[in-house]
Amino acid sequence: MNQIIKDLNWRYAVKKYDSSKKIEEQDLAILKETISLSPSSMGLQAYKVLVIENPEIRSKLQEKSFGQTQVTEASHLFVFCGFTEITEDYINLMVEKTAETRNQTLSELEGFKNFLGSKMTMDSDKLEIWTAKQTYIALGHLMQTAAQLRIDSTPMEGFDPHGYDEVLNLSEKGLKANLVCTLGFRAEDDIYQHMQKVRKNHTDLFELV
Ligand SMILES: Cc1cc2nc3c(=O)[nH]c(=O)nc-3n(C[C@H](O)[C@H](O)[C@H](O)COP(=O)(O)O)c2cc1C
Repeated sequence: MNQIIKDLNWRYAVKKYDSSKKIEEQDLAILKETISLSPSSMGLQAYKVLVIENPEIRSKLQEKSFGQTQVTEASHLFVFCGFTEITEDYINLMVEKTAETRNQTLSELEGFKNFLGSKMTMDSDKLEIWTAKQTYIALGHLMQTAAQLRIDSTPMEGFDPHGYDEVLNLSEKGLKANLVCTLGFRAEDDIYQHMQKVRKNHTDLFELV
């Protein structure tokens, strides 16, 4: 079987982690770099990923995640947060970073800056949806890389964003939690690892037009 398909079949949404196993620092660095290399609209990366190791905070977050044990038992908890606003300072920062990285002048990037500025005027509901969508792309990359490294993961929407906001003071940081991913190593007795994947037939999933 093709290696990519093997990796994807190896992955499943883990329900029970072995809490004694921790992700090595060098693998954690690869996982973070994967998120960093994910594409984002106009390269703005209008999101932040909180990497939560602190057990007390994780215990509080578990209460806000319908008691799901992965939140406390996994090696790591990644909380994907979208920006709730895009400020002029942020746009300036990204333009300056582009100029510095690509050895360009700020005046060369004036058009780009104005284009980015159009996002600042987006209404807040639209902006939240726009930034949230992009975190899902990073999540997909993260889970694929994790599977290649034989690190388990669980994507989770089963949590209360307001509860996360309270525990992590997200609104004062201009963030909103829209997605969680736990990462670590499956427990030997997690029965879900033996379950067949349920997927639609390709003839139903794809349509040749
Ligand atoms: C956006 C999203 C949210 C999910 N939320 C949860 C969740 O809160 N808890 C959980 O145990 N699994 C969650 N899952 C996992 C799905 O139930 C799982 O991916 C799906 O049933 C397919 O199974 P597989 O990933 O094991 O192949 C979520 C998956 C996605 C993509």
